[in-house]
Amino acid sequence: MKRIAVFASGSGSNFQAIIDVVQSGELKADISLLICDKPGAFAVQRANAARIPSFVFSAKDYSTKEAYETEILAELKRHGVELVILAGYMRLIGPTLLREYQGRIVNIHPSLLPAFPGKDAIGQALAAKAEWSGVTIHYVDEGMDTGPIIVQERVRLDENETRESLQNKIHAIEHKLYPAIIQVLLTQGGIVNGKKTSTY
Ligand code: GRF
Repeated sequence: MKRIAVFASGSGSNFQAIIDVVQSGELKADISLLICDKPGAFAVQRANAARIPSFVFSAKDYSTKEAYETEILAELKRHGVELVILAGYMRLIGPTLLREYQGRIVNIHPSLLPAFPGKDAIGQALAAKAEWSGVTIHYVDEGMDTGPIIVQERVRLDENETRESLQNKIHAIEHKLYPAIIQVLLTQGGIVNGKKTSTY
């Protein structure tokens, strides 16, 4: 079974969706580790409930990103992690992790990138009165939501769309799309813009 790690900073509903499909047997993977940078995050409780080991840290306890990423890297290697899944991890991945895992780190973002990158993509779409937004799954590079796109799914904004209603629509898509794409990446290798590549 291929080993994956999930990185999360918050509630972890995407993490839970992945746990659920692994537990039901739909996704053939071993969630070996949760990496979380917020000690109080609900994602940590989800890991405990599912008996998934977690590495929880506070960036302020380290002098540099390199210092905490060195520890994360050691954990990933100790658990034999092959694919890294970012699911609401609110930090840029630095060179320490990218050097070892480039092409094997994916992220999910709640907009149609390159539109509305960075924080609060849902708020950005509402403020722009966009007609369409959506979900993007992409490889991670050193930029903020800039890596090669794997897949996108669109969502139409209603005229009376609220933050809550848009968030619910986006989460509903994410919770189905992310596990499905992880399955494809683990079994068939990589995809960029619908084309297969040799790595994850
Ligand atoms: C998701 O909407 C994801 O697209 C973004 O952060 C959010 C995380 O939500 N990167 P959750 O913690 O999985 O509920």
